[in-house]
Amino acid sequence: MGITPVLRVNPDDFAQEELAPAGRILREGGLVVFPTETVYGLGANALDETAARAIYTAKGRPSDNPLIVHLPDLSRLDMLCRDIPKQALSLFSAFSPGPLTVILKKQPQVPDVVSGGLDTVAVRIPSHPVAAALLREAAVPVAAPSANRSGRPSPTRLAHVLEDLDGRVDLMIDGGECGVGLESTVVSLAGDIPVLLRPGGISLEMLRSVLGEVRVDDAVSHRLAEGQRPMAPGMKYRHYAPAAPLTLAQGTPADVTAWLVAHSKEPGAGILCFDEQRGLFPDAAHVESLGPQADDAAHAHALFDALRSFDAAGVRAIYGALPGEQGISLAVRNRLLKAAGHYVVHLYTAFFHPVLSLPCFARIGRGTFCRAGGISMLRFGITGKSGAGKSTVAQLFEKYGVVHVDADKVAHSIYEPGTPCAAEIAAHFGPSVLLSDGSVDRRSLSAIVFSDAAQLEALSAITHRYVGEAIAQIEQRERAAGAKGLLIDAIALIESGQKGAAVIAVTAPYEVMLSRIMARDGLSEAEARRRLDAQKEEDFFVSHADYVIVNNGDAGTLEQQVDVIARQLGLCQ
Ligand code: TXA
Ligand code: MG
Repeated sequence: MGITPVLRVNPDDFAQEELAPAGRILREGGLVVFPTETVYGLGANALDETAARAIYTAKGRPSDNPLIVHLPDLSRLDMLCRDIPKQALSLFSAFSPGPLTVILKKQPQVPDVVSGGLDTVAVRIPSHPVAAALLREAAVPVAAPSANRSGRPSPTRLAHVLEDLDGRVDLMIDGGECGVGLESTVVSLAGDIPVLLRPGGISLEMLRSVLGEVRVDDAVSHRLAEGQRPMAPGMKYRHYAPAAPLTLAQGTPADVTAWLVAHSKEPGAGILCFDEQRGLFPDAAHVESLGPQADDAAHAHALFDALRSFDAAGVRAIYGALPGEQGISLAVRNRLLKAAGHYVVHLYTAFFHPVLSLPCFARIGRGTFCRAGGISMLRFGITGKSGAGKSTVAQLFEKYGVVHVDADKVAHSIYEPGTPCAAEIAAHFGPSVLLSDGSVDRRSLSAIVFSDAAQLEALSAITHRYVGEAIAQIEQRERAAGAKGLLIDAIALIESGQKGAAVIAVTAPYEVMLSRIMARDGLSEAEARRRLDAQKEEDFFVSHADYVIVNNGDAGTLEQQVDVIARQLGLCQ
């Protein structure tokens, strides 16, 4: 039995009056824990400075970390916020009530203790029926962080809240399990462009469908550099952390499973897995599943409960897979990265090359490869983020008679003045897409095709044909000169409909790519981060590749990997 009184409310069948006493406690300056569709919240009257301050004490929360203010609907939004942009209303009308929090400029009457001293305030309209009824009963805006002790995983049921806050609040409302299971999506509309500060149930894709451009704050996916400040102060804390250290792995599902099995044999190992894998870890001290592998929403729902269970089981170390970035997975990934202190192991199958007797990291290809020689030349692709080392790898292939085709240059060459491609584009899109020298104006062309899928398709049909022709010409020329293969930027290769024999992805640790880009292009760290983050994630390149080269900066290892692939592709014996 706990100390704090608990009011049980059945979310599917209750009367608004049941929440009248709780509403009164809030109005009178007390603290009430209540369920929301995301996680449980610890509420206080947002306009009562003393009440709001009591939240920080109950949670043990640093006072620079601002609170989210909850409203039953939009009617009193301008009591809290000023200069409300139209975008905010579009966003609320698309996704509220629901797991969305919007940061807006604040009215002076919102106390500093709520806004953490910032000029902005976070507003959310929860959809949970009990939360909505409580907010109507309270008749005051309610500031509520997640109802956990600071640093612990957010509570998704009342048992979690009792572990953390029993005896520290005036009333707890038990409304069963929270649906989403992760805290709301936080998006700032207080600056020039919308910024995603914390991913949640409303995905980045959903935000972009309403807002267009949305920037993703660095703190969402990366460990911040020393001294770097996230836009949401709460994102800098090592949150959501279970007591035992958590390690995540990235790689193919088969590789990750093998890695989990290996670690499950360590004494005191905790394994975070999916339903399909459950039976694979008989030696593990504790196994928690996030649900079926393909059910992302289930993973979000189960995550915090799973992390808490590892604590209860007293494991010594926890191992799990790094989630992807689509939809709600981005939020699961963000919480897991934070719980792991961003500790991620990159796995690629190390196989023993039968001829060379060398262990190497190249992944065995998925298809059958055509061999070099005969009349056709071997075409294959290279891909990866900037700074991963694509050109270094391309250079290493030169000694096997492979010529590197710079696809960017090819794409530029077809747009030059007087080319048949420029003429065809002008005929289709009108003369305004040409510059005065007769070359194609990429900017005005982008403006046309950006929002019009049919036009984009028309443009691609034209350019891919010319890119294909240009590459064929290079191939003819290089073959005559004795080359054995063409290595082409894989995106261009894939887009022009000619995947070639194989695609190689080059990967490197994030920090390594960052420092390479900074050194090579003279960029600041922030600029380099922005560039890297704007590109597709490593997962994308790896999943489109037949081989993965891991460039950890060691030239010898790199040469070995290139050699193994060259042999497999038949470029040498
Ligand atoms: O789902 C949720 O949002 C839950 C339920 C209870 O509504 N609440 C919640 O609150 O997660 P909390 O306090 O645990 O997280 C609020 C996050 C923190 O990362 C905080 O730094 C950020 O929102 N935040 C709040 N006000 C902000 C502001 N004015 N500017 C930037 N970030 C802000
Ligand atoms: Mg929290």
